[in-house]
Amino acid sequence: MEISVIGCGYVGLVTGLGFAELGNSVIFVDSDEFKLKLINALKPPIYEPGLEELMRRNGGRFYATNDYQEAISNSEISFICVGTPSKEDGSIDLSHVKASARQIGESLRNKDGYHVVVVKSTVLPGTTENVVRQIIEEMSGKKAFIDFGLAVNPEFLREGNAVEDFFNPDRIVIGIRDEKTREILEELYSPFNCPKLITDIKTAEMIKYANNAFLATKISFANEIGNICKKLGIDVYEVFKGVGLDHRINPAFFRAGIGFGGSCLPKDVRALIAKAGELGEEPKILKAVIEVNERQPLRMIELLKKHMSSLEGKTIGILGLAFKPDTDDVRESRAIPIVEKLLEEKAKVIAYDPKAIDNFSKIFPHIEYAKSGQEVVDRSDALLIVTEWKEFGELNYRGKIVVDGRRIDKAREALVYEGVCW
Ligand code: UGA
Repeated sequence: MEISVIGCGYVGLVTGLGFAELGNSVIFVDSDEFKLKLINALKPPIYEPGLEELMRRNGGRFYATNDYQEAISNSEISFICVGTPSKEDGSIDLSHVKASARQIGESLRNKDGYHVVVVKSTVLPGTTENVVRQIIEEMSGKKAFIDFGLAVNPEFLREGNAVEDFFNPDRIVIGIRDEKTREILEELYSPFNCPKLITDIKTAEMIKYANNAFLATKISFANEIGNICKKLGIDVYEVFKGVGLDHRINPAFFRAGIGFGGSCLPKDVRALIAKAGELGEEPKILKAVIEVNERQPLRMIELLKKHMSSLEGKTIGILGLAFKPDTDDVRESRAIPIVEKLLEEKAKVIAYDPKAIDNFSKIFPHIEYAKSGQEVVDRSDALLIVTEWKEFGELNYRGKIVVDGRRIDKAREALVYEGVCW
């Protein structure tokens, strides 16, 4: 099939390249000239394991352009994969979604035949049928579900695992209203053997939010239990091993530590809280999930102060800046509030991350960045482990003070070892 993908972030790229690997032709659309050049040169504009190989293998099946008309005229399905960042008040910023809907609408005006527009960006229930539909109808002069199709197909890709997740989904959720769109998307997804859930459009939008909100809740719950365990001298990882064996619960996402970051979980929980507020609902659990998550990284500094009365003038090493391993993404990384607090306490900060130094130094240009994890260990008075990169399990921590936010067992050899929840 012929597909266009609007937005070349990790979701758009992985989705488009995944479909190319399955034999489809893909046109990527983005306004960032630099990204377009990289994609057309078969170079990934972001770090994501497996992406470069996917690009090289499928070089003849895709290209990138900034020309919407060209992309829409030469495809039968368009996926909107642009970002939906948070505004100051936690509600979602739809400006990119609206801009791409306008451009798609304009292009559809000049196109004959049925074209399906699929919203993959995470948008709150009602957005596709109200906002996106209205813009495309206005710009194209055509009617949704009659002249063109409209659907929601949320993504469940984890950064750092996105390529593998694309090919091995737990399920595929498709929100539709008309039969023709259903048939086209069922054909596109026919190579996948997982459960496929077909719902109405706003239910599919809500599934995505409920899913991420529940994952975030599991993490904050594990952290809350972990904080209690720490006081009682109990290992919270043993506790959740026991809890996770209950088949009604499942062991995933109980890794206690310093909480969740990234471009998705914090943003989606906040957006759901803001939406609930608009509807006159008070989402007590969701608010507590965020509260626990914001306190959690600062517990590392409290533990550090148990062993150093003042941090002023001390060199504190940070191992890990990315919001999780195997990515260069630092959005909402737990390292951000930690470094802010250390600077406020007048500590000297030296940091290392295998992939995320470039991105982190845009936020903190004035702290020192080391060339390796061992250099950070050797030059610090005390260390904070913030991201569980595999290579941090091979460093020599002997003689050091270590506060571990992510459970790197090798660090237990340190002179003083404090796990944040264990
Ligand atoms: C998350 C979801 O897992 C994906 O299913 C979803 O598609 C994606 O958001 C999205 O909405 O686009 P992602 O943000 O890539 O994926 O990362 P996760 O693997 O979910 O990790 C998020 C954060 O939670 C990380 O900071 C990680 O360190 C933390 N985490 C995760 C924990 O602290 N404990 C855990 O047990 C698991």
